[in-house]
Amino acid sequence: MGEEVKKLTIICRCNDVTLEDIVSAVNAGIDNFEVLRKYLRIGFGPCQGRSCIVLAARIYSRLTGVKLNEALSDYKVRPPIVPVPARVLLAGG
Ligand code: FES
Repeated sequence: MGEEVKKLTIICRCNDVTLEDIVSAVNAGIDNFEVLRKYLRIGFGPCQGRSCIVLAARIYSRLTGVKLNEALSDYKVRPPIVPVPARVLLAGG
């Protein structure tokens, strides 16, 4: 894959994490998906990783040979699972 493609391929839109960022971090020695996720802030944006966690984990899995379910084994989904308007939370709903 070309270097330009890696630079331009956004994996986590909320935090502007590119494919190149993930490849560089793995090549630098990060050997745990949770560490990679926290290092690059993948999944810490407003969408809470709904559109990037699995994609980033698949890339990590391909780069390292770690199975996808193993890569995601330490990842915990925290509620709310879907976006909830603040007025619903304030109303106790
Ligand atoms: S796209 Fe990664 S946290 Fe939103």
